[in-house]
Amino acid sequence: MLIAGDVDGTKTNLAIFPADNEPATPVDRMILIEPSILSADLLRLGEQAKAAEDAKADGLQIDVMDGQFAPNITFGPDLVRALRNVVKLKLDVHLMINEPERMLIPFADAGADRIIIHEESCTHFYRVLQSIKALKIEAGVAVNPGTPLEAIQEVLDLVDLVQVMTVSPGFGGQRFITSQLDKVKRLQQTLTEHHVKIPIAVDGGIHLDTAQLAVAAGATVLVAGSSIFNNTGSVAQNMTALRASITK
Ligand code: DX5
Repeated sequence: MLIAGDVDGTKTNLAIFPADNEPATPVDRMILIEPSILSADLLRLGEQAKAAEDAKADGLQIDVMDGQFAPNITFGPDLVRALRNVVKLKLDVHLMINEPERMLIPFADAGADRIIIHEESCTHFYRVLQSIKALKIEAGVAVNPGTPLEAIQEVLDLVDLVQVMTVSPGFGGQRFITSQLDKVKRLQQTLTEHHVKIPIAVDGGIHLDTAQLAVAAGATVLVAGSSIFNNTGSVAQNMTALRASITK
């Protein structure tokens, strides 16, 4: 598979040209990068969020964990409200909590543009997704590495995004689970077969060597934490490097 594209500093346009033995389906896609603030310097969150915005990030993912669904406790609606006052970026709230329906209104009121819930976290997730949509914001569904795609098949026409977890929820800096690339490919095929045009996000372990693999599999939203927020480069330098890695 050959990947060619151009980076105009804000968006990455990609054309995918098949290798000789693959069917000819040149595709033109916008690849979005959403930094995950879980890996940011927590004592400088506003500054780091602003740096991501200045570096033309396409959104910010805010990982919310309750210490039950995921083995960590992170952020609440107050942080979303505070970030809303600092950046205009899309605020993407990733709820890794049990019974997410309890927290939809507080996060929507705080300024979330999208709320992503996990299929594994609630009994009536169709109703919860409808509740998010009723708040006039986008709804996304995420699946853990061990969850089959069949579990979300019935909601593909309801959601605005599907997020394939490429690590198990809980922490930044984990290793990318390569087996999830095949899941991304199968999801891409299922969406095409059902004529559903929604973005596929991947979350976890997205770095200079894994981003291109995820894009080639069909992902169009890259959620990245430790490859953006780290001590080896500025947010701007890291964003540029990650963008360049998917067009090299
Ligand atoms: C993990 C979170 C991810 C994580 C990504 O539970 O959902 O968003 O912060 O961090 P990296 O990119 O470092 O794996």
